[in-house]
Amino acid sequence: MKINKNFDNLVPNYLFAEIAKRVSDYQTANPENDVIRLGIGDVTLPLAPVVIEAMKKGVDDLAKKETFKGYPDYEGYGFVREAVSGYYKSFGVEVSADEVLISDGAKSDCGNIGDIFDKDNIVLVTDPVYPVYVDSNIMSGRNIIYADCNKSNNFKAMPDKNLHCDIIYLCSPNNPTGAAYTADELKEWIDYAIENDAVILYDCAYEAFITDNVPRSIFAVEGARKCAIEFCSLSKTAGFTGTRCGYTVIPKELERDGHNIYKTWYRRQATKFNGVSWPVQCGAAAVFSEEGQKQIKENLGYYQENARIISQALDELGIYYTGGKNSPYIWLECPNGMGSWEFFDLLLTKANVVGTPGAGFGKNGEGFFRLTSFGDRDKTVEAVRRLKEILA
Ligand code: MLT
Repeated sequence: MKINKNFDNLVPNYLFAEIAKRVSDYQTANPENDVIRLGIGDVTLPLAPVVIEAMKKGVDDLAKKETFKGYPDYEGYGFVREAVSGYYKSFGVEVSADEVLISDGAKSDCGNIGDIFDKDNIVLVTDPVYPVYVDSNIMSGRNIIYADCNKSNNFKAMPDKNLHCDIIYLCSPNNPTGAAYTADELKEWIDYAIENDAVILYDCAYEAFITDNVPRSIFAVEGARKCAIEFCSLSKTAGFTGTRCGYTVIPKELERDGHNIYKTWYRRQATKFNGVSWPVQCGAAAVFSEEGQKQIKENLGYYQENARIISQALDELGIYYTGGKNSPYIWLECPNGMGSWEFFDLLLTKANVVGTPGAGFGKNGEGFFRLTSFGDRDKTVEAVRRLKEILA
């Protein structure tokens, strides 16, 4: 019996598990300290009332023989896929319901999609990078190349036409930097992908935070249907981090290596995934109703105001940052040339505030730090006060 030795090539702990452990150790040693968590991007507001009502009704359905539901359809219930399709239409993008697959979140699908691709494909990720893209490909033994994002390109890497790759992960608005690609920039990636016969795996889990005139979907850009798969999630959009629901869009005509991508992914999902529960899919459909959209926008506005409060403090302190706009994340340069983990320790021990060290997202994250706007308002205000106190 042998273990998959590729796991030896991973960093020992998943980034957010490592942070949780360090914070827990600190809390155990200092139980009287009030620690404010602005690290992992986990929401703090409750689900919208219309979503709760739909979920409750879904639970009631399970209590009666006539409305009881067992296994859901592998690709999700039709009315939820129709709702997602209608949502795309609301911002001018045509995606048909039979190109939508409902899942338990973008993280799972981004991590699992590699199952359908050969191990010898070359993977390109932008650095800093959401660790799931890297770790899941290391587990499969794939070679990864990194496209640098830094201050000089506003944390938006563009394709290098001299390099070949087969699988391209893009996240826009970006986790962790908040940078959002324009339609012209995405078109360059699309042209490059088509030229290389590559597939773009496009993570737009943060599209609901977009306020500028940048695409909310890669399918808003010409050519994307020839090369892209899109992953989205209700986690950040509508507070489903705990209840779990997302969706993946695969153009029906997309093919590579003589294989239809939708059919191949469907085959994978039918084998390894049994769908999202009825009450949660009922809640998900409610997100896309007129009332649902109104209610989730109130929650999004609350987080956007938190982002404004954090950004304003950084402006006052003269600290360079990106994000906070089009994104719930604020990506800041550590003050006084500090390293990411050094700043993490300083903030934890002197201000009792938790953030995410940029180095955890890749080599270009060293010297940077991520704060989230998903916290409680009063705690965010207090965290900012403490930040100013230790840095003033
Ligand atoms: C993050 O903090 O980067 C996210 O919450 C992680 C995730 O969505 O899995």
